[in-house]
Amino acid sequence: MTDTTEELKLQDHVGARFVRWPYEPDVTQVILLDHHMVPTPESVSAWAVEAVASDPDIRAVRTGAMFPDAAASFAEAGFRPIDTLALLEAPITPKSIRSLCRRKFDTQRLRASHLPDVAVLDRRAFGDPWGNDVRSLTDIADATPRHRARVVIVNDGNGGPNIGGFALTGQSGVFGYLQRLAVDPQLRRRGIGRRLVADSLCWMQRRGATVAMVNTGLDNEAALALYADMGFRRRSETLTILELAGDALHRAGGAR
Ligand SMILES: CC(C)(COP(=O)(O)OP(=O)(O)OC[C@H]1O[C@@H](n2cnc3c(N)ncnc32)[C@H](O)[C@@H]1OP(=O)(O)O)[C@@H](O)C(=O)NCCC(=O)NCCS
Repeated sequence: MTDTTEELKLQDHVGARFVRWPYEPDVTQVILLDHHMVPTPESVSAWAVEAVASDPDIRAVRTGAMFPDAAASFAEAGFRPIDTLALLEAPITPKSIRSLCRRKFDTQRLRASHLPDVAVLDRRAFGDPWGNDVRSLTDIADATPRHRARVVIVNDGNGGPNIGGFALTGQSGVFGYLQRLAVDPQLRRRGIGRRLVADSLCWMQRRGATVAMVNTGLDNEAALALYADMGFRRRSETLTILELAGDALHRAGGAR
């Protein structure tokens, strides 16, 4: 598999595609095409075999953030959890965000020319192995029928423009998804994150979404505090990222 090749794999009518994990060419990510569908453990095992067959040098197969039913199928197929995420939602009604959306948030469109710097910021903000590269950022933006990508530009010490933070937001039907948010570590607690979240919520409301969803690490105190402050409440279920590696991957697909 090359860096950019994406393969459509259909098992039991549940589709998935494989992409390279950002910055780890020997790790394949399996992405469900529809996160409402739940694959069987047999489908998951078949994907693992295909992932190894398409690249015998892979070291691991990882999932994206899985809802509990899908995570259970991956676990039954031998995958192990490597991260657990809190899932939060906020109602979006004209009344609930009317005062919020009266303001302008001074954000700008994220342009293709911003992407390399945004990827560097994303990696600094999230750390390995969670940082995005340009390709995975583009994938996130393409994941929903409609999306909005914004940056906050600040002047650095020398007066030059720098990307202080960015947000990627998607919308599908009544759901708005705050998919990615990061602020330069040196520019935190200045209100940039709040501006970007507010901009996202107001865009979702304009597009007709009635529920905003976001996920973040269970121990990400800064993000949890920001989201709580913006009206998000935790849902009872968590999301899980899982990995098949080492002996389990060898057994599944015969990798070296
Ligand atoms: C989460 C993040 C985006 C916040 O950005 P920010 O620009 O620093 O946030 P703001 O300055 O707008 O903060 C708004 C409010 O959020 C809360 N908050 C933000 N950072 C906080 C922290 N470290 N501890 C506690 N509360 C915090 C506070 O209520 C804050 O209001 P206050 O400063 O008036 O007290 C930033 O910390 C970040 O990029 N983290 C790494 C990436 C990440 O976790 N992204 C989001 C999860 S997917």
